[in-house]
Amino acid sequence: MSQQLAVVILAAGQGTRMKSDIPKVLHPLAGKPLVQHVIDVARELGSDAIHLVHGHGGGQVREALASQDLTWVEQAEQLGTGHAVDQVMPGIDDDRMVLVLYGDVPLITAATLNKLLESVSADTMALLTARLPDPTGYGRILRDDQGQVCGIVEQKDASPEQLAIDEVNTGIMAVPAVHLRKWLSALDNDNAQGEYYLTDIIAMAVADGVAIAAFAPASLAEIMGVNNKVQLAELERRYQFARAEALMLAGVTMADPTRFDLRGRLDTGRDVFLDINVIIEGDVTLGDGVSIGPNVVLKNVKIGAGCQILANSVLEDAEFGQGCRVGPFARVRPETRIADHCHIGNFVEIKKSVVSSGSKINHLTYVGDSEVGSGVNIGAGTITCNYDGANKHKTLIGNDVFIGSDVKLVAPVKVGDGATIGAGSVISRDAPAGELTLSRAPQRTIKGWQRPVKKKT
Ligand code: UD1
Ligand code: MG
Repeated sequence: MSQQLAVVILAAGQGTRMKSDIPKVLHPLAGKPLVQHVIDVARELGSDAIHLVHGHGGGQVREALASQDLTWVEQAEQLGTGHAVDQVMPGIDDDRMVLVLYGDVPLITAATLNKLLESVSADTMALLTARLPDPTGYGRILRDDQGQVCGIVEQKDASPEQLAIDEVNTGIMAVPAVHLRKWLSALDNDNAQGEYYLTDIIAMAVADGVAIAAFAPASLAEIMGVNNKVQLAELERRYQFARAEALMLAGVTMADPTRFDLRGRLDTGRDVFLDINVIIEGDVTLGDGVSIGPNVVLKNVKIGAGCQILANSVLEDAEFGQGCRVGPFARVRPETRIADHCHIGNFVEIKKSVVSSGSKINHLTYVGDSEVGSGVNIGAGTITCNYDGANKHKTLIGNDVFIGSDVKLVAPVKVGDGATIGAGSVISRDAPAGELTLSRAPQRTIKGWQRPVKKKT
């Protein structure tokens, strides 16, 4: 293909069968709107011109995709696929190659489309077709005696012989703009559905001597559309299984590839293990030998070699050094950095904090807005009281500090290197290095005290 590409994404359909207030193309697949998958593929093809055809009241779609460089075209009334593409043509120059994609066909790949685009030229268009065991509902591909594509007939317009054809139109095609413009202006809606069919341009191409190349996608999932929640779930599973397969072929061990969800990007080292029901969001990197337990959610995290993340932990926007043990039931929140060989235990929440190497925070603890030195041990039930109701304050804990159980550190506060804090203390002033600091009401015993007893009536 010598021409520059213009991509047209059709997304004006209402999606009635989704039974939802959310426009169909905004429903997420792998955590990303259906139409975003299509836009991303268009960008992968290097297209600088992506035209999105939306229906009346496309406000929600525009709002959701506002940050992106797209040309928005409204098709107020859905008069057919040919009419939809025609709305875009005023914005496309004659020397472009137009690639038509569907906003609700999310798994199409750049590899398949590149194959299509390699075959087109100023006088050749290309069509993506597929043979389906059950072609019901699709437009059927008509071929002449030489086996050349010579037309498409829609299900509702087809004769019984044509309905027996199992090669279908996927809807995806590449057409030189100069021809497309001419053919679209010649379309009529004299057919069973009273629509302007894009598919009618095929017969016009044949009449004008424009060659038609036809290709099949690498996998049928690439051309499957979403019309209802069942199809959405099916495509989600196909997508996820393909991701799991790629990870396993790259050396990742998975307890069960059918119980895995990737909603972003995952980079893995060697000998990574993923137990069941791991959810990956955003950008996640797992170093060599990392083991992730069951029901773990990882979002935008980097985990160093040899770390063990135990069951039911939720880690977000955080970095872990090597050889850490985290969880079970740990929650690490954004802007946290944990250095090598730390232990973060059960029911521990850490937010916006730095923990240096070899420190242990093993049980029932909240550490927020803190800097924790190396070799620190924080006892069970410790809380950094970082919030005074209006502002957040920092807690600074030096190296080799030992904090007893059930300590409240009322920030801003600093605990010096080597300090020990007695269990149960409320520390609201700085604790000096190397000393034992505690704030504890003196223990007393009331001699002879009697437990109250129930009065007899
Ligand atoms: C279309 C094709 C059919 C093909 C099938 C593949 C035509 C006439 N038929 O049929 O050959 O087998 O897709 O799925 O092209 N859309 C608009 N505006 C409109 C009409 C449709 O934007 O006025 C959009 C829809 O949102 C959808 C796509 O175009 O994304 C296809 O529309 P749909 O009504 O599903 O087409 P089919 O009748 O299924
Ligand atoms: Mg339809």
